[in-house]
Amino acid sequence: MAKIDFGGVLEDVVTREEFTLEKAREVLKKETVAVIGYGVQGPAQAMNMRDNGINVIIGQAPEFKADWDKAVADGFVPGLTLFNVEEAVTKGTIIQYLVSDAAQRILWPKIKPCLKKGDALYFSHGFSITYKDQTGVVPPEYVDVILCAPKGSGTSVRRNFLAGAGINSSYSVFQDYTGRANERILALGIAIGSGYLFPTTFEKEVYSDLTGERGVLMGALAGIMDAQYQVLRENGHSPSEAFNETVEELTQSLIRLVDEKGMDWMYANCSATAQRGALDWRPKFKQAVLPVFEDLYNKVKSGKECQRVIDSLSSPDYKKKLDAELSELGNSELWRAGAAVRKLRPKS
Ligand SMILES: NC(=O)c1ccc[n+]([C@@H]2O[C@H](COP(=O)([O-])OP(=O)(O)OC[C@H]3O[C@@H](n4cnc5c(N)ncnc54)[C@H](O)[C@@H]3O)[C@@H](O)[C@H]2O)c1
Repeated sequence: MAKIDFGGVLEDVVTREEFTLEKAREVLKKETVAVIGYGVQGPAQAMNMRDNGINVIIGQAPEFKADWDKAVADGFVPGLTLFNVEEAVTKGTIIQYLVSDAAQRILWPKIKPCLKKGDALYFSHGFSITYKDQTGVVPPEYVDVILCAPKGSGTSVRRNFLAGAGINSSYSVFQDYTGRANERILALGIAIGSGYLFPTTFEKEVYSDLTGERGVLMGALAGIMDAQYQVLRENGHSPSEAFNETVEELTQSLIRLVDEKGMDWMYANCSATAQRGALDWRPKFKQAVLPVFEDLYNKVKSGKECQRVIDSLSSPDYKKKLDAELSELGNSELWRAGAAVRKLRPKS
């Protein structure tokens, strides 16, 4: 563990220097890691581990043919390293449960009887365990229950790995049956190619993740863009002008400066007029949205958001409804204007 100062708060984190890949290989040398689910996270974690010399097999429901075929295309061999879900769980000693959160609940009655004494059950999200009263995912006491949650899409987990970088991940031990749960999860976190690993709990992981995606990362982001675009349009600004001032300048310029050296650096690189206004309006926006964030966090913590997910996703016409909502978003004037702006970008 390294003690790192995060803005004045000291935190313990695990880096690749302290927990090396060689050490991870040593810890995992007798394990068979069964990655259950070949959707988004599954392929990324499985291929990174395979490239790092870990013994990996895949468990994928063959009826989800596209995912099965993707595993074959990625070099997993049916009957050798690619199996149906129950077979893979039976063969594995570490079971990485990487089907979607909704499917984890549905598949659980098939998974549970295949778990053996001393296995490790691994998650990349605290959802199923934290909301176990609602999901019914209650692991037997004779397995380790561990978590490593990459803070990025599976696509970036693979891309960054191939580029020699990594996605940072949180990790946690919920149940330590073997006494090896901690070294197992650190080894897995390094083997999947994490940048650095920071400790969390299953609860904290899911509360922060659901808040983040409903908030700044996705929900609030789109909502605040809609609001500004609407005001600009209602005041006679063209779609091109409104889009450029709401989205394009953010994604093509300002957020890249934030990424590079932080918010103050971005402000410092803008005009004095922009700086004055941004500094004056920042607290007003904070005050306006703080109650919304408090409401959001409470709904996440109380399980209301979990219930909303379970209820919505179990409705038979959910996919149709989701497609309609996404299409409404994509076909709104703002995002159609966005498509036009993107087309006009000079080709490099
Ligand atoms: N998507 C991400 O990049 C990301 C990031 C961090 C953590 N996670 C976590 O990783 C886990 C996996 O998420 P994902 O986004 O990769 O999932 P996904 O939706 O891409 O996974 C779908 C997988 O589940 C299988 N599946 C779906 N329904 C099934 C059913 N009824 N029976 C059998 N198999 C079924 C599919 O065949 C596929 O292999 C989740 O816990 C998620 O929260 C995901």
